[in-house]
Amino acid sequence: MALSPQWLDELRARITLSSLIGRTVKIQKAGREYKACCPFHNEKTPSFTINDEKGFYHCFGCGAHGDAISWMTEQRGLGFMDAVKDLAAEAQMEVPAPDPRAAQRQEVRATLHNVMAAAQDWFVERFNSAEGAAARDYLKNRGISEKTIREFGFGFAPNSRGQLKDALSQHGVDQLIEAGLLIKVDDREPYDRFRGRLMIPIRDPRGRVIAFGGRILGDGEPKYLNSPDTPLFDKGRTLYNLDKASPASRQTGRILVVEGYMDAIALAQAGFAEVVAPLGTALTEHQIERIWKMVEKPIICFDGDAAGQKASIRAALRALPLLRPAHSLQFATLPFGQDPDDFVKNKGKAAFEEILSKCETLDSRIWRNELARIGPEPGPDARAELLSRLQNTAKSIADVQIGKEYDRTFRDAFYERFGLKRQYFEKLKAAVNDVYDHPLEGRHKALHRAVMLGLMRYPTVLKTKFEEIGKLPLEDEFQKTWSSSLLDIALHNSDLTEDMVEQLLLDADVSPIAKRDFQKDLGYSFYKHHDDPTKPIRDLELVIDAINYDYEAKSELALSISKLEASMNQDIEEVHLSKVNDNHVSKLRENDEASRRLREILDLAATGT
Ligand code: UTP
Ligand code: MN
Repeated sequence: MALSPQWLDELRARITLSSLIGRTVKIQKAGREYKACCPFHNEKTPSFTINDEKGFYHCFGCGAHGDAISWMTEQRGLGFMDAVKDLAAEAQMEVPAPDPRAAQRQEVRATLHNVMAAAQDWFVERFNSAEGAAARDYLKNRGISEKTIREFGFGFAPNSRGQLKDALSQHGVDQLIEAGLLIKVDDREPYDRFRGRLMIPIRDPRGRVIAFGGRILGDGEPKYLNSPDTPLFDKGRTLYNLDKASPASRQTGRILVVEGYMDAIALAQAGFAEVVAPLGTALTEHQIERIWKMVEKPIICFDGDAAGQKASIRAALRALPLLRPAHSLQFATLPFGQDPDDFVKNKGKAAFEEILSKCETLDSRIWRNELARIGPEPGPDARAELLSRLQNTAKSIADVQIGKEYDRTFRDAFYERFGLKRQYFEKLKAAVNDVYDHPLEGRHKALHRAVMLGLMRYPTVLKTKFEEIGKLPLEDEFQKTWSSSLLDIALHNSDLTEDMVEQLLLDADVSPIAKRDFQKDLGYSFYKHHDDPTKPIRDLELVIDAINYDYEAKSELALSISKLEASMNQDIEEVHLSKVNDNHVSKLRENDEASRRLREILDLAATGT
């Protein structure tokens, strides 16, 4: 049976060598590779290395060296075909039936490589000839340097239906058609596919030209014309610039994925060589897997317009089913309307690095997108839809553990944003602000003294607010004695007058009684004599209540906050705090009326009225 080298390459590419070997040998991650004690000879310190990207193992001790297939034949002792069948089953590939034409196809590809190489040479020649002046000017205007032109192999296809056909006639028309360089419609004469275009060669990982992208010079449709799929070129399995990006990624440990050829080229010119681009289609599974062989978390950096952002989300959703531990995508977002090419040209390398340093994770990119889909203040329907969309998204992840963690991350984000806890936290914060704006703040001691003096002038309040006075949160020892003596006097005497109170205090040895001091005390209504005592008495009662309210509110607030903090560690859906907080907030509302009145009294006092 003749298995083509391409088929075998594909098989090797689909097998992750470290997990294959890891089944029978204990392996350890070491940088970009894995290490193990060599299974082919006896050793205590590991000198056996596995490189998933290149798909081979190598022992620095005994020189054992091979790929997935030789692992199966040499270590597991299988015959070649059995090894291939086992691996194919694992890679979900079908082992092709014996095919005498396979060898022939191999032949065809070798010929096509020659054709493409010849075409590339010819396009470059045209580019450098008089004919190519417009193409050279075009690149110059776009700021592409001579060096970049040479490195990326820009060429030019003249505006003619037969020049390429004639120039490459030695390869035969059929080959030129098969290579996608000529178009043949029905029985009509084949003609050149690329006419009057700037030519960008697309290379395979080994650097061989396998296709072209042709850009129109200036405006026109289509902007880019690409090679059709051919035996050499499969659009969905090819990444532009992979041949240069792969070695570069080994230096930087990163891969950038951009949308367009020119984005890749402009970034490479600016010093970001580790950049690839799909070819005008959404990122395919195959392309994602291919990039993961180079780095674990490639950075998606698509255009900053709506189409580019939509393409980012498509890439995100496509990656989900494929996720495996440590492998993911990252997202760099450009300012609206700019692509990487514009951005790096206008803002420079450092600014682009800055964008890359602010990459977003895959889960965050998806969350942000879903959040943007529902309006700014979603009702219950929209919230339920959001939650179920997030849950379905997490379900599309094949890896069970990763799926669970995404589900949890999404739910946390959802409840953090829309859950009860967040709402009560907001209410509570507002309540805290209310209390700290309270007019009593910082005036307690002076107020307490004012109350004592007021009680001496209007002793009836000692009876009407007996209990409340007992609850006043006095901090000063003298004030405490003063207040308990006043209450004691009220308890044992009736029909108290101002003079009686003063005398009884002296008798109780609470002295010297600090009388009202005009230097120190403000002009509260209850300091003065009034013909009608109704107002000062009401004011005095109000101040006593306000002090107590203030104190209670603060204690309750402290309690609520400590309960809320404790609950932060519980499952986010189990919030039992609503009652506590509601009571608390309504208490503060009640207090509003009292504090409004109090503010008036204090204001009057300050003006000495
Ligand atoms: P863009 O239109 O964003 O390309 O398409 P760009 O790189 O910014 O092009 P410039 O800067 O105007 O030259 C992104 C990619 O989509 C594919 C190409 O691969 C292109 O690089 N495309 C776009 C096509 O295949 N055909 C088209 O007509 C347009
Ligand atoms: Mn673009």
